[in-house]
Amino acid sequence: MQKTAIAASIATDHLMTFRGRFADSLIAEQLDRISVSFLAEELHIRRGGVGGNIAFGMGSLGQHPILVAAAGQDFADYRSWLERHGVDCESVRISDSLHTARFVCTTDDDLAQMATFYAGAMAEAREIELQPVAERVGGLDLVLIGADAPEAMRRHTAECRERGFRFIADPSQQLAYGDGELIRSLVEGAEYLLTNEYESHLTEQKTGWSAADIAALVPVRVITRGKDGATIHVRGEEPVQVSAALVENPADPTGVGDAFRAGFITGLATGLNHERSAQLGSVLAAFCLESVGTQEYRLDRGAFLQRIAVTYGDDAAAEIDPHLVIHRSHDGSTALPVGP
Ligand SMILES: Nc1ncnc2c1ncn2[C@@H]1O[C@H](COP(=O)(O)OP(=O)(O)OP(=O)(O)O)[C@@H](O)[C@H]1O
Ligand SMILES: [Mg+2]
Repeated sequence: MQKTAIAASIATDHLMTFRGRFADSLIAEQLDRISVSFLAEELHIRRGGVGGNIAFGMGSLGQHPILVAAAGQDFADYRSWLERHGVDCESVRISDSLHTARFVCTTDDDLAQMATFYAGAMAEAREIELQPVAERVGGLDLVLIGADAPEAMRRHTAECRERGFRFIADPSQQLAYGDGELIRSLVEGAEYLLTNEYESHLTEQKTGWSAADIAALVPVRVITRGKDGATIHVRGEEPVQVSAALVENPADPTGVGDAFRAGFITGLATGLNHERSAQLGSVLAAFCLESVGTQEYRLDRGAFLQRIAVTYGDDAAAEIDPHLVIHRSHDGSTALPVGP
């Protein structure tokens, strides 16, 4: 089995709802001495962080991705969840003193939000070196470098370039915060650049690179466009469009980008071509969209293949079928994963 490292954040989301309007409790003249508290009605705690989400998705598709990230002492439950889904967590660094990164958000009846992000242990991801990870697992075939503490992303990217590890640049949220210099340092030397459409413009704007400049630097660029699917640009070839998969009941769009990546990389790791890999990613994104949360979808092999067939045709389903390892069948039984 191909060895893929997912170097990207681990976090938990604490999501609350407030039945009322924040605006009713805020007094414009008193904002300099603000002290308000809202009685929340519901609390949902969700496992997240892009690294956790992508690794979970790959594990759900039968891969054993190696998660490279930093978390706190409170990681135990989350770790066992990921391990049950086939994720190798041996290279997760556990901080001595800091909690796992946490996003705390309260939403009111107007859908106004008050949120705080605590980075915590995430900052220690910059202490992680990839070479010992490669030695432990017997080499790395591909490394995804996704949103994380910027210094960690910079270090992992530099190490990939130095040691010749093939890597995917997937800076997502950090594109909004990073300057041109940081972004250029994260993209140079990558074999793949993955972004959504908005981020693709941000990348060009902040780096000052044109699409042609990026094509000269990165052999394969994938741009996702929400319900309009994805476009794959391979240097020197005509772009390939992959339509979004059929979605039955959209419930929650969070995590669709990560699910797309999990499916796409699983496709690459199992030897599918770019188009089939993107179709696999699109179908996983559709199942993610139909569930609430980023790691709440449960896959059924038959239903998954059926979705590929109705969206992309029987040929696509027949081609992907032998590459698809989903341990759950219609009756809900789960076969034990086969070792790496
Ligand atoms: N409404 C939709 N219907 C069907 N598929 C969708 C829809 N939205 C997203 N997808 C699938 O998910 C992929 C990624 O979506 P998108 O481009 O919105 O990513 P993103 O903006 O990075 O998402 P995220 O909010 O998770 O960061 C798309 O290429 C598509 O396959
Ligand atoms: Mg995204």
